[in-house]
Amino acid sequence: MTGRRTFTMIKPDAVENGHIGAILEKISSAGFKIIAMKYTQLSRRDAQEFYAIHRDRPFFGELIQFMTRGPIVSAILEKDNAVDDFRALIGATNPAEAAEGTIRKLFAKDIGENAVHGSDSDENALIEGSFHFSGREIY
Ligand code: CMP
Repeated sequence: MTGRRTFTMIKPDAVENGHIGAILEKISSAGFKIIAMKYTQLSRRDAQEFYAIHRDRPFFGELIQFMTRGPIVSAILEKDNAVDDFRALIGATNPAEAAEGTIRKLFAKDIGENAVHGSDSDENALIEGSFHFSGREIY
């Protein structure tokens, strides 16, 4: 059992393709409670800071370009075992390897434009949620 919170973004590709509603429905149906949410767009500076861990990776430039090209939905989700259960719901980073029925299998194009983000640990869920939301935006 891990912590009760995770952080997610519905990425620009999924927003552009009109999948916000369907993805939120999958998230709610899986038992996650939305305790913070906003429709926003990352600046280059925001994205570079958020993805600083990937800055030496060959795909970093592409990742920043992608994540800043249009609006996203960011949210903090609450549920028992939130991080692991959400990663199961979204599926593998590469949608080609994602299980049937997962959000990435249903809505993502490729490993770069993969529709949704999910925190990979309780520690990162806290860091990422705090990056996007102040305490009084979390309910
Ligand atoms: P996510 O796991 O949410 O956060 C890191 C992101 O980097 C990942 O989703 C993808 O959007 C992107 N990414 C990871 N690996 C690659 C890759 N090989 N090529 C392009 N983008 C990638």
